Amino acid sequence: MEKQNRKATRVVAVLAGLGLATLMPLAAHAAEKVKVGLMLPYTGTYAALGNAITNGFKQYVAEQGGTLAGREVEYFVVDDESDPAKATENTNKLVKRDEVDVLVGTVHSGVALAMAKVARDTKTLMIIPNAGADELTGPLCAPNVFRTSFTNWQPAYAMGKVAAEKGHKTAVTLTWKYAAGEQAVEGFAKAFEAGGGKVVKQLTLPFPNVEFQALLTEVASLKPDAVYVFFAGGGAAKFVKDYDAAGLKKSIPLYSSGFLTDGTLEAMGGAGEGLLTALHYADGLEIPKDKDFRTKYAMTYKMQPDVYAVQGYDAAQLLKSGLDAVKGGKLDQATMVKAMEAATIDSPRGAFTLSKAHNPVQDIYLRKAEGKDNKLVNVAVKKLADPARGCRM
Ligand code: BEZ
Repeated sequence: MEKQNRKATRVVAVLAGLGLATLMPLAAHAAEKVKVGLMLPYTGTYAALGNAITNGFKQYVAEQGGTLAGREVEYFVVDDESDPAKATENTNKLVKRDEVDVLVGTVHSGVALAMAKVARDTKTLMIIPNAGADELTGPLCAPNVFRTSFTNWQPAYAMGKVAAEKGHKTAVTLTWKYAAGEQAVEGFAKAFEAGGGKVVKQLTLPFPNVEFQALLTEVASLKPDAVYVFFAGGGAAKFVKDYDAAGLKKSIPLYSSGFLTDGTLEAMGGAGEGLLTALHYADGLEIPKDKDFRTKYAMTYKMQPDVYAVQGYDAAQLLKSGLDAVKGGKLDQATMVKAMEAATIDSPRGAFTLSKAHNPVQDIYLRKAEGKDNKLVNVAVKKLADPARGCRM
């Protein structure tokens, strides 16, 4: 039974038990609050990402006067620790114990895959504000699962195209060995090799290990024209510092999906200066919505926003478009899904729409790290849609 129906049945049963049957039609039509389950990492290497997503989501709600489509928002929060082994149990806490109306999460692709299985099985609405797992826009796409971020393929593909255009012929890739890193490498290789390059070696280490030394020694001996990596959060800062300290930054250009340098440049203490990355957000976008978003974010949280904050903000916007459609009535999922599919999200990154597979169709920017900023260089690929192979909806 869909969550809203379960809840309505319980309300009716309670009222009938109290002999308040005459109140039943009124109760059934009262605008209920919306219960939002935030399942994100608040500890570990991705903790800052989970916090930024939460901040962005709450900023949008605050801009709406503290409600979404006139409904009070009640939050239920679980720290998923970026641990896939705990993901099903953590999701069930929100779905079965707290009976949330919508799941918002998460950062780590492996955790998101397990979360989405629970969402599909229980028909709970889910909005992914980061995790890029390609499958969720592919064979595991579902009518009740949406994403306001990216697929792992999207920024990696754009970076591969740029690296090939720069004339590099060989590349070594290096990443954590899990879906996000492996799929990013696949996207990079696809575009790089289509542009005449060759990935000569793919190096990996377990997530969230940060002992990079042996791998950096191997990179130095392979002497490729370029290196492509996928790292994010605390591990990204450590990697770039180690790459620089090993003397590689001077000799072998380092490229990445922009997660390497988003929200991490300060922690790199200058080692990231000049790095080129590709992402669906950048500093210095001349977009009025972005300027407004950044001003308010800095005032509230006393720091600059990053891509994760933008994705959280847009998750709240997308939810509002679904809630607007049911106009204070019961949260009919089919009505909400239809409205969310048709929404244009007025994002700080630039307005975007969703593909048939419920993933943003968006510009991917080339950025250059300068001081604390990932400065916009140009648009690497315009309106890039994930190919959504295997998605049947
Ligand atoms: C992922 O696991 O999908 C992911 C984590 C951090 C940044 C980007 C993607």
